[in-house]
Amino acid sequence: MCFQIIGKEKPFHHSKKNKKFYCYEEPEVFRSRLLLTPSAMIFDLEKDTKVNETYKLMAQTIIPRPIAWVVTEDAGIVNIAPFSYFIGLSSSPATVLISVGHKADGTPKDTLANIRKHKKCTICMVEEKDLEKMHLSSKSLLREESEAQTFNIETTQENVEFPSRITSAPVAYYCELNQEIDLGGSTIPLVLNVRQMFVDDEVITDKERLTIAFKPVARIGKSYAFLGSEVDAPKMP
Ligand SMILES: Cc1cc2nc3c(=O)[nH]c(=O)nc-3n(C[C@H](O)[C@H](O)[C@H](O)COP(=O)(O)O)c2cc1C
Repeated sequence: MCFQIIGKEKPFHHSKKNKKFYCYEEPEVFRSRLLLTPSAMIFDLEKDTKVNETYKLMAQTIIPRPIAWVVTEDAGIVNIAPFSYFIGLSSSPATVLISVGHKADGTPKDTLANIRKHKKCTICMVEEKDLEKMHLSSKSLLREESEAQTFNIETTQENVEFPSRITSAPVAYYCELNQEIDLGGSTIPLVLNVRQMFVDDEVITDKERLTIAFKPVARIGKSYAFLGSEVDAPKMP
């Protein structure tokens, strides 16, 4: 594993216990820092202006993250993209949050533009069998191009009030925009009210108890993970 310390202009390479470090400080400064903190590294995110580095640190440590496979629509074009800055916020009211950024040219990603315009989206959960299609759908296409068509992702329109859902997804949340949160950066957290939920019969294992089981995909850094074995909660004393 390699780390980067951000600050000065030129990178120097160091080796310590066979681990490779990349550093942007004078070697002596870097060594003294290692001596001060021999078994850990402190990253000052306030001073670190390189968003990419902060992303690396957070995306590899806040794990595993669920993936929201988000469907939006505009002018008849079905837009699909995955987002792993995604979390359930509350069950009462039913709300979730996704954080959506901007494209390289500085314009909002299509998902953000569509949610801002229509205030609606449909979030689908990703099963193992859909990993490849989900990943491909993260490709940045022209606004007038549909990921559904380009990557052959079948969608079903069962609720005309919301964008269609991905047919193979076991679970879908039909959402309405509650509010944007302005953090002062280019990534915009969106709070979404879940108005309706679709759960495929196939993944409801017990209708009376309402137990659901499916095979989700999680995000870990730039890779993915499948769920391991499920463990019962310890008994309370
Ligand atoms: C698994 C995965 C998770 C992602 N999570 C996010 C995220 O949380 N926020 C974000 O802005 N982009 C995220 N992306 C990148 C977007 O999917 C990508 O920028 C996509 O092109 C956006 O499409 P759109 O312009 O159609 O909205 C992720 C990509 C992948 C593959």
